[in-house]
Amino acid sequence: MSNWTPSSWRSFPIKQVPDYADAEALKSTEARLATFPPLVFAGEARKLKRKLAKVSEGKGFLLQGGDCAESFAEHEADNIRDFFRVFLQMAVVLTFAGGQPVVKVGRIAGQFAKPRSSNVEAQGDVELPSYRGDIINGIGFDTTSREPDPERQIMAYRQSAATLNLLRAFAMGGYANLEHVHRWTLGYLRGSPQSERYQHLADRISETLGFMRSCGINPDTTPQLKSTEFYTSHEALLLGYEEALTRVDSTSGEWYATSGHMLWIGDRTRQPDHAHLEFCRGVQNPIGLKCGPSLEADELIRLIDMLNPANEAGRLTLIARFGAGKVEDHLPGLIRKVEAEGRKVLWSCDPMHGNVIKASSGYKTRPFDAILSEVRDFLSIHRAEGTHAGGIHVEMTGQNVTECTGGAREVSDDDLAHRYHTHCDPRLNADQALELAFLVAEELRKSVGPVSDDAGEGSFEAAE
Ligand code: PEP
Ligand code: CO
Repeated sequence: MSNWTPSSWRSFPIKQVPDYADAEALKSTEARLATFPPLVFAGEARKLKRKLAKVSEGKGFLLQGGDCAESFAEHEADNIRDFFRVFLQMAVVLTFAGGQPVVKVGRIAGQFAKPRSSNVEAQGDVELPSYRGDIINGIGFDTTSREPDPERQIMAYRQSAATLNLLRAFAMGGYANLEHVHRWTLGYLRGSPQSERYQHLADRISETLGFMRSCGINPDTTPQLKSTEFYTSHEALLLGYEEALTRVDSTSGEWYATSGHMLWIGDRTRQPDHAHLEFCRGVQNPIGLKCGPSLEADELIRLIDMLNPANEAGRLTLIARFGAGKVEDHLPGLIRKVEAEGRKVLWSCDPMHGNVIKASSGYKTRPFDAILSEVRDFLSIHRAEGTHAGGIHVEMTGQNVTECTGGAREVSDDDLAHRYHTHCDPRLNADQALELAFLVAEELRKSVGPVSDDAGEGSFEAAE
């Protein structure tokens, strides 16, 4: 990797950086972080990369999701558990419908830093620096809260460690038992206005589990059914923090970001000659790249070449986020160029970030129908192009919030005020997230033929 070091990004232009008043304090915080243990291991990131490689070859599906922004205020165990529960339910539905292993990657245990469309926020006559995520400053609209504070990086690190610890326990300690996960889904269906529509799929999962049981395949005899593999991801935005947690892997001698398994580059910070590209090109983790409407095909190839010069499958996930009604204008051109140039990528769809609107009540929201419509277009364009629609990337929570409108329970503009808790963008609530999984499952069934031997290898839990 020519001329790259964990700090080489510092000599490139950079966007979306906070203005820390005390440079010495920042430096000493970064030096402390650099002595802290890694949150994840290089071997885990490599394993995820292998799984994503399979997905990019058409043998799997990536489910990536979680908060827009994690917060220090919402760090209860129940919150983490409820997110994990609905995420697993989504994974089971998608696994069954697609007949493919689902790779599970949370936007969690490190998703704290936010890019903003404006550096300042005005309320009445008062103008203050924008909130940039709890790792940088506070959400309260007052001068003290909005002052970037390096100490917050230490707090974010510690919160990430605690969250990851609980997630690892949930994933390995029996909570992820496939039969439980399915029972929760049946419970959800009993209360859902759309239950009839989804019952058929749920019945087929029940039947399959029953059949497996009769054959002696159950969580006691087959430990994979009791556990799952779960990975973490976040936007690599705050590069000083990322640099401090970037370490040489003793096995391979290569550099890995150890703040999370997968990092992504946001749509606002993907300039080829800027710092975020420079940092991400040098770490060997799987990398995501957000692709918004302003991305031209030639530029995409340039970015792919920088981030994945060896054309390694699983290294790069392109996360398309154009907005409902705009996918057709942008995606086919990018797919064709990538195919013509023979680049190995995983295509995923973020149906959230192109679909933010301001409700008449003043809240930022996303209509469920727009979210679904973007995913549908993404899937049908891939069907038409003969390429693999490899995943979805969503902002969601396990809580019963009212942030996105619509869904089977018809959250209305007026409902938004009831439980609007997000620290940044509006998230799907638990019901909406699972409903989206069912609806995507219906679409996936149009794309997949009979399950191949190869695809079945991973099943719900791909053991290695
Ligand atoms: C995000 O994923 O929270 C985000 C800011 O996305 P994007 O960079 O695609 O706007
Ligand atoms: Co967001």
